[in-house]
Amino acid sequence: MNTIQIKDKRFAISIPEKDILREVDRVASEINRDLEGKNPLFLSVLNGSFMFTADLMKRVTIPCEISFVKLASYQGIASTGTIKEVIGLNEDITDRTIVIVEDIVDTGLTMQRLLETLGTRNPREIHIATLLVKPEKLQVDLDIEYVAMHIPNDFIVGYGLDYDGLGRNYRDIYTVVND
Ligand code: IMP
Repeated sequence: MNTIQIKDKRFAISIPEKDILREVDRVASEINRDLEGKNPLFLSVLNGSFMFTADLMKRVTIPCEISFVKLASYQGIASTGTIKEVIGLNEDITDRTIVIVEDIVDTGLTMQRLLETLGTRNPREIHIATLLVKPEKLQVDLDIEYVAMHIPNDFIVGYGLDYDGLGRNYRDIYTVVND
C-alpha cells in the first residue's frame, strides 16, 4: 500500500515501519543508558503517541513507570486563542525524573505548555522523547534530547498520527501528496 486516500487528501508512504523501529530502538538505548537508576516516569501524550509509546516501552529495559495524559483544548478569551490544559495526570511527580513521550513537535507550543504545567509540580528533571520533529516549524527554544527522526515541514499521517481523526492505525508514516 504505497498511497492512501483520507477524505480529500492523498498520502504516499514516506517512512516505512522498519525505518521507524530502527530509530525507536536507538532512542530506547539512549534512554536505557542515560536514565538507569532514576526510575523514570514516562508520560505519554495521547492520542498521537500511543504507537510510539508502545514500541518505545517494549525496548526500555530499566525499571520505570508509565502513565498517560491528554491535552484538552478549550477556547480562551479571544486574544489568547486556544489554550491546552493537561488532564489525566494523577501521579505525584514531586522529585521524579519525567520523560514526556510525544508523537511530533511541530511549532513546539504544545510541548512548551506541557513543560510549564509539569514544572509547577516540582519534578526533579523533565526529559523529552519525541518520535518526530519538524525543525523548520519550531518556534520556541526546546531542549529535545531524544528524537527518533527529523522530518520536513509536510503534513503526515500514520503510526499514531491522524488527519481529522483518521489514519492513526497505519504502521508506516505517509506524507501528503500535493497535486
Ligand atoms: P505543536 O504545538 O505545533 O508542536 O503541535 C503538536 C501537535 O500537532 C502534535 O502533537 C500533533 O497532534 C499535531 N501535528 C503536528 N504536525 C502534524 C502532522 O504532520 N500530522 C498530524 N498531526 C500533526
